[in-house]
Amino acid sequence: MDLDLAVAQAHQAYAERNPRSAELHRRASTVMPGGNTRSVLHFEPFPFRVASAAGAELTDVDGHTYVDFLGNYTAGLFGHSPKVIADAVVEALGSGFALGATHATEIELAELLCARFDALERVRFTNSGTEANLMAIGTALHHTQKTGVGVFEGAYHGGVLSFGHGASHPLNVPHRFIVAPFDDLDGLDRLFADSDLGCVIVEAVQGAGGCIPASHEFLSELSRRCEKSGTVLILDEVMTSRLSPGGAQRLYGIRPDMMTLGKYLGGGMTFGAFGGRSEIMAHFDSAAGGVLTQAGTFNNNIVTMTAATTAISQLLDDDRLEEVNRRGDRLRRSLDETLRGGGLWVTGRGSMLTVHAADDRLLDLYFHAMLAAGHYLARRGFIALSFEIEDAHSERLQTDTADWIGRLEG
Ligand SMILES: Cc1ncc(COP(=O)(O)O)c(C=O)c1O
Repeated sequence: MDLDLAVAQAHQAYAERNPRSAELHRRASTVMPGGNTRSVLHFEPFPFRVASAAGAELTDVDGHTYVDFLGNYTAGLFGHSPKVIADAVVEALGSGFALGATHATEIELAELLCARFDALERVRFTNSGTEANLMAIGTALHHTQKTGVGVFEGAYHGGVLSFGHGASHPLNVPHRFIVAPFDDLDGLDRLFADSDLGCVIVEAVQGAGGCIPASHEFLSELSRRCEKSGTVLILDEVMTSRLSPGGAQRLYGIRPDMMTLGKYLGGGMTFGAFGGRSEIMAHFDSAAGGVLTQAGTFNNNIVTMTAATTAISQLLDDDRLEEVNRRGDRLRRSLDETLRGGGLWVTGRGSMLTVHAADDRLLDLYFHAMLAAGHYLARRGFIALSFEIEDAHSERLQTDTADWIGRLEG
């Protein structure tokens, strides 16, 4: 098969189906470089523009409806516009917002999170997962009075903390990073050989890096070596906290010194959190001699605080969480079985999975074939299931995937 020709045909067919989105893309590109303000949302030839979203579905401005398998890169665990969250936010707005003062809802959220995650003895809020990781790293270096930050190849801890497999990201913050291979026990020597290593930050399952789970041995050994050397272990649970009611730390049986959160825990609103051992977080407590301060106009904004407390206390049911993760495991296995013969494969854990291809044109073809069949996933193959995705949705994705592979091979 001529893959270049097939991709060109898929793009042309998509462009013909989406004239309104095409027009909006032209308009957007005259005021936003690339036509967007979140680079990952772009795909060729141009992304569709959403007109409305409800439950498991997105409807675009050209009238197509997609089942949303992307789930806002894990932030959309509760599906689109759950009424209970919308009602709570509207009610809270009625008693004032942009308060510029403390209030009780932020305490409730902190209590809910500290009760949920074993490593979280004290917590503070930010506006994004990126900011939470920046704060955690800064706090850990202040605590240890060291300069080295251990990270892993393929890791993504935010737009300015991005570690691919090649050259370092031009927008990364200028910490002294020591990069080691992920899930490689021998590679850990590279980190711990550094005499000024202050902290190590790790995802239990690399999300943006392709949904690659670490082995239990790797995380236990990393945790053991951090403890032995007095290095602060930061577990980035921005995505993985959804993998069990107690997060990935419970699945893996580790207890990091610090952890970060974000995404779905904000109930769909802008959110991040960092925290951990009270001794470390005490650097923010002037009464305990701490000298660190945390700024952020919107850290305790009433919209996020309300959406998050409502989501966690009313929607984040343990059984539903276990079920969405079981459903993800089933979907990953069945898609992988179907796609393997065609040069694609699927990795992940629970409700986070990624379709990979040795040739990126194949992945582009798969992505466009699924769009044409009414399924939205990330262009890079990422899928994050929401509570609104049911077995019937997964089965239809599976059937359409099998049909596509059949056509590709035929
Ligand atoms: C593991 C991980 N950490 C941090 C972030 C950054 O979060 P945010 O996009 O809220 O800044 C992400 C976002 O995808 C992530 O996947």
